[in-house]
Amino acid sequence: MTVPPLAPYPASRLRRLRQANWTRRLVRETEVRPSDLIWSMVVHEGEGAVPVASMPGVDRLSVKEAAKAAVRARDLGIPAIAIFPHIDPSRKDATGSIAADPDGVIPRAVKAMKDAAPEVGIMCDVALDPFTDHGHDGVVEGGKILNDATIERLIEQGLMQAAAGADILAPSDMMDGRIGALRGALEGHGHHDTLIMSYAAKYASAFYGPYRDAIGSAKLSAGQGDKKTYQMDPSNTEEAIREVALDIAEGADMVMVKPGLPYLDILRRLVDEFRMPTYAFQVSGEYAMIKAAGANGWIDEERAILESLVAFKRAGAAGIITYFAPWAAEKLG
Ligand code: PBG
Repeated sequence: MTVPPLAPYPASRLRRLRQANWTRRLVRETEVRPSDLIWSMVVHEGEGAVPVASMPGVDRLSVKEAAKAAVRARDLGIPAIAIFPHIDPSRKDATGSIAADPDGVIPRAVKAMKDAAPEVGIMCDVALDPFTDHGHDGVVEGGKILNDATIERLIEQGLMQAAAGADILAPSDMMDGRIGALRGALEGHGHHDTLIMSYAAKYASAFYGPYRDAIGSAKLSAGQGDKKTYQMDPSNTEEAIREVALDIAEGADMVMVKPGLPYLDILRRLVDEFRMPTYAFQVSGEYAMIKAAGANGWIDEERAILESLVAFKRAGAAGIITYFAPWAAEKLG
């Protein structure tokens, strides 16, 4: 018997575990399932489905269509839907006065969706921007976004959403102290079980562009103004930790990092630091980039979507808020 040479050969051959699909499946560390997805959806006051130009494949849905979508989510195993309103520009004003209207499109959509598919959680954005003509998330005075005056409005809006049957309130405004104020108001009105997912680490990002098109925030989408006095500086990490610590102390049940893919380092840090259910929002610009490159044949769109979703899970996300949810759930289900 000839003794094989002891060297040279690699001490360990990691490629052995990659040689076949079955070995790859056996050692796979992370998987995305439909239950990891929150479907991000835009609803509008009119009838039917209206395509959003900068987000191919995404439509603004009527209340009726939204109810059908809730049934579809249930059938696909998607646990929750996050809804955002498109409001007719003629009904917007400087203070967003119809944000807490109990007959508005959001409460009507919540009721219709909960009637159609009560098993699906409905999450509402608590913020004024879809309702203000300037597109800011708060009350503006002398060019400043007023913190405490905005919180008062958000409380009215959040209580109205909870009364309509929303399961999760998601304040996305980045005012200081809003989580504690909202939690207190919910408790005071008997909404003990209404969850709060705080947009805790939300950055002033260029990746929200198509969303502002989707909800019709014309001025901000035209580049007039920015949200840098309330949303975070993309350069900061330590500050994200302070933001999240405060929101947890104030009563948040779940926290979010937004945008998603460019901020995976923040997500990982927050999960390691707090061990909270932490969600990533794959925002409109991330969606649009993948769709645009896919449409041009520059990337394999389907693989890119699935790769981006697994990246969130790998980085520690408890779930992903994404416009790809129905497509991905179908693919993964
Ligand atoms: C604002 C809000 C934004 C998004 C969700 N809530 C945009 C902003 O802060 O300007 C972005 C969602 C997306 O880009 O998909 N309250």
